[in-house]
Amino acid sequence: MALLPILIAPDPGLKAKAKPVEKVDRGIRALMNDMMETMHSAKGIGLAAPQVGILKRVIVVDVSAADEDPQPLYLANPEILWASDDTSLHEEGCLSLPEHFADVERPARVRVRYLDRENEIREIEADGMLGTCIQHEMDHLEGTLFVDRISSLKRNMILRKLVKSKKAEAAAS
Ligand code: NI
Repeated sequence: MALLPILIAPDPGLKAKAKPVEKVDRGIRALMNDMMETMHSAKGIGLAAPQVGILKRVIVVDVSAADEDPQPLYLANPEILWASDDTSLHEEGCLSLPEHFADVERPARVRVRYLDRENEIREIEADGMLGTCIQHEMDHLEGTLFVDRISSLKRNMILRKLVKSKKAEAAAS
């Protein structure tokens, strides 16, 4: 197991489209484990492979609260089979846009098919925080960030601040 470095926006790696995995083999399982460890260590609830610089359709999610048992989910090649017409608004953040949050509107409920850690085909129906989180992570596989789903005014403000803090960090090192 290893902690992986997380790309911070703006970064071209976060705008690229990820490729499907052929199957969930030992290599993909190792990636899933490293991603889960990286996500937990960064106190996130979801992480997509492009965020650690790997353009594969792999995401990990765990929306359990600190005082609950972990509920880790490992998804390869996730596909939305169905999305509800009704939408919900949730505040979202992202490990690639640290310390920035915004309300994002998405379908309230989705059904998703994916390959699990054992390469078995599974389906999950999710709403609430889990539904939001899975949709947010699946967006990363298309090179879409949550800020791409909010007003350009707010998006540009967040991206400007991220550029500024990257520059400050580069100057300090
Ligand atoms: Ni994210």
